[in-house]
Amino acid sequence: MAFIKLPTARLILRDFRKNDWEAVHEYGADLEVVRYMPWGPNTEADTKEFIERSLASQREEPRTKFEFAVTLAESGRLIGGAGIRASAPADRGGDMGYCLHPDFWGQGYATEAAAAIVGFGFGKLGLHRVFATCDTGNAASARVLEKVGMRREAHFRRDSIIRGEWRDSYLYAVLEDEWSEAGKGTLR
Ligand SMILES: CC(C)(COP(=O)(O)OP(=O)(O)OC[C@H]1O[C@@H](n2cnc3c(N)ncnc32)[C@H](O)[C@@H]1OP(=O)(O)O)[C@@H](O)C(=O)NCCC(=O)NCCS
Repeated sequence: MAFIKLPTARLILRDFRKNDWEAVHEYGADLEVVRYMPWGPNTEADTKEFIERSLASQREEPRTKFEFAVTLAESGRLIGGAGIRASAPADRGGDMGYCLHPDFWGQGYATEAAAAIVGFGFGKLGLHRVFATCDTGNAASARVLEKVGMRREAHFRRDSIIRGEWRDSYLYAVLEDEWSEAGKGTLR
């Protein structure tokens, strides 16, 4: 598959490049950012390995994992990451996620990136269902998932362990026909 670029109103989501690691490390090493995620806080080696894994997934045939750099369309600045993987190929299901540099929180960027990812899942990947999980304490992430038209379908009790603590998570999902009906795919 060729190098992927997904434009939105203010962002370009694109495949990672090797030299993106420093920009990713700025937020990936921040404990506050990764507080609700099993990922991080990263050492430099962890971030470089994350980029290497993303580059390796770009070369897979068929490709099932898509980790994208979230960049500002105007300046090209990398402000985060967002991705989706076909986690249940037989059922055409995909699992999505995102993470932004804290300097860029609260401006609707995660919602814009998440909408692009869901649109990509239903469009280019031909998925039937896109889902995401988030820690029940992560109100901003739950809100993003609601804003892109996903429905809370489950509350899992202590299903994940984050830095030694058992945590609850919500599962959000949206189906292909619901997405089209909501017109959310029009974000480009
Ligand atoms: C979660 C995250 C991606 C949100 O990014 P963002 O760009 O600030 O999100 P948006 O601006 O698009 O939307 C955030 C929404 O959450 C709301 N929100 C933010 N903090 C909140 C809080 N503590 N309680 C309730 N709502 C909150 C905002 O008001 C906004 O909703 P609104 O538009 O209805 O006002 C960002 O905080 C992040 O990268 N966090 C660290 C990584 C992470 O947790 N990723 C998700 C893993 S599941």
